[in-house]
This record gives sequence, C-alpha cells and structure tokens, in this order.
Amino acid sequence: MLNSGRMVHFGRAGEHTPDRLIHGDNLPLLATLADESLDVVYVDPPFATGSVRRGGGGHSYSDRSADPEHLVDWLLPRLEHTRRVLTSTGSLFVHLDYRATHYMKVALDKLFGRSRFVNEIVWCYSVGGKSNRRFARKHDTILWYARSADYAFYPDAVRVPRKPKSHMRLVQGPDGELVQEKTDRKTGKVYRYPVARGKVPEDWWTDIETLNRADRERTGWPTQKPERLLERILVATSTSGDVVGDWFCGSGTTAVVAQRLDRRFIAIDAEPDAVGCSAQRLERSGRALSEAALAGGPPPPRDLYVETLAVASQRTG
Ligand SMILES: C[S@@+](CC[C@H](N)C(=O)[O-])C[C@H]1O[C@@H](n2cnc3c(N)ncnc32)[C@H](O)[C@@H]1O
Repeated sequence: MLNSGRMVHFGRAGEHTPDRLIHGDNLPLLATLADESLDVVYVDPPFATGSVRRGGGGHSYSDRSADPEHLVDWLLPRLEHTRRVLTSTGSLFVHLDYRATHYMKVALDKLFGRSRFVNEIVWCYSVGGKSNRRFARKHDTILWYARSADYAFYPDAVRVPRKPKSHMRLVQGPDGELVQEKTDRKTGKVYRYPVARGKVPEDWWTDIETLNRADRERTGWPTQKPERLLERILVATSTSGDVVGDWFCGSGTTAVVAQRLDRRFIAIDAEPDAVGCSAQRLERSGRALSEAALAGGPPPPRDLYVETLAVASQRTG
C-alpha cells in the first residue's frame, strides 16, 4: 500500500498528530489502524439504492447494488475492524434507511452482542419528494452500538429546550425558577423539571432538517448530511481530543464538525472527488478557526494530512 500526501498547516503550536483525510478504499486502510485507538466511528455508507447518486456541480458516487444483504456482507469486514479499533468506552453509529437498517441490525447484534445495542435513532426530516401511493418516507435510521457496557455518553452536553406546551403544569419551583411539574396518580410523587435546564433528546429527532438545495452548508456532494446531526452525535459521545472516524466521509461533514469541536479525526472516501471536496471544506473551516484563535478564541485546529493510498478500490456498485 503506497502512500503519498500533503500537509496543511493551521498554526497549532506544540506536538500533535495531524488529522487524516484519506483517499482510498476503506477496508485495507482499516486493517492498518491500531486496536482500541478510536473513540467514535460514524459510517454513512451507500444505502443500497441501486443507482448512481448525483449531486450538484457534477459530484456523484456509485450505489448500484440494490441488494441489502449484499450491502451488509460487504460492510461487515469493515465493521469488524471498526469494533476492533474502538476503545472500551467507544461507540459506532451506522446511518442507513428503510432499505437495509433491519438487515444491518441483525448483523450488528451478532458482531457487538445484543447487549451492546444502545439506540435506534430515528432522524426525521421533511424536505424532498412525496408520493400519493404511500406515506412519504422521511426518516433515516442511525444504529448506535457500544464497544462495552462502559461506553461514554454526555447527555448534559446535548440538552434541548423543553416543549412549551406540555401536559405538565408550569409552576414556580422552590428557588423561584420556572418548572414543569407533574404528579404521579398512583404514588402521589411530584416530578419537577426546570425549564431552563432543557431535556435530553429522545431517540427520534425532528429538530434537525435535512439540507435543502439553497443551504449554505451545501457542497453539492450527493446525500450530504447536516453538520448539526453530526454535532449532536459527537458532542453526546466524545470530548475534546478524542479520536473520531468516518470511513465513508463524502463531503467531509463528520471531519468538519470534529475539527470545530477539537476532536481528532480519520476520514476516508474512495472517490477522489469526495476527498477534494472534504479537503476544500476542511481547509476553509480550519483557516476560519485559525483566524478566530488569533482573535483570542480557542487554539487553532491540528494540521491536516491529505493522503492517497494506492490500492484498488472496492465500491459496492
Ligand atoms: C452516503 S455518502 C456519505 C455522505 C457523507 N456522510 C456526507 O455528509 O457528505 C457515501 C460515501 O461512501 C463512499 N464510498 C463508497 N465505497 C467506499 C469505499 N469502499 N471506501 C471508502 N468510501 C467509499 C462514496 O464515495 C460516498 O462518498
């Protein structure tokens, strides 16, 4: 496996390993990663749509296989490596939709153990086509599996506002703060939830819309995910300096969010165009973070190493 690359400097002082953006098939690359070296891995593979996915500006990637079982067979060796490289507190998130989620869940139950399943996150959105023949398919599923029972989770970091119109009474709490309050009919116990504290989201997310054509985040890469989606996942399961992996990085959404949140990252894609798109995005956001650092903000991001691995690619299509 030959390796060539270029370093992008953002001016961070002191010793640090650069973040990595890699062009190549993820499987041989994953085989080179050390055991227990990553904290969070998010994968958003081709969904087995049976088509070439086209975005704006000529960007596209192949997702020709329409067979979910084939997709799972193809993904499994990659996910076996992922389990191996996760730390004991680490987590894997697999993003799919109605076509393959159920096949994938059975396979992941076997690979991680049923007791390591944490959540089936239902990400709801409304942008895009509708049908008169059925209810519009407007959610994706993100399966969350943990490496061990001791997985990291920071619920307070992802609290959201409480619903103003709730079945609970709105009253003033003992310290004068506004609370939502309810009494359990059977036990008479009173539950109080301070409004200002917000709440930990449920496993269905309706507050993050998918990107529309005019969105400022939009790169043109097909099936690009919103940064807020990755932000919630990374903030909930990692802290500053943790290492994040994305083996199907596309336009680089996970990497850009990791960079902004001071997580280290390894991002891979088999399409040179995806790596070009991610590199541009990371260089732009890295420079903006460097400028903010000069103006007194947090330290600039780590350097970025953009690599090409000279190995044959094995796409799904
Ligand atoms: C659904 S897209 C990822 C979109 C990404 N999450 C984003 O926000 O832009 C799937 C990606 O998997 C990449 N891919 C397909 N086969 C691959 C392989 N063997 N190794 C690495 N990447 C691959 C495709 O090029 C495509 O960019």
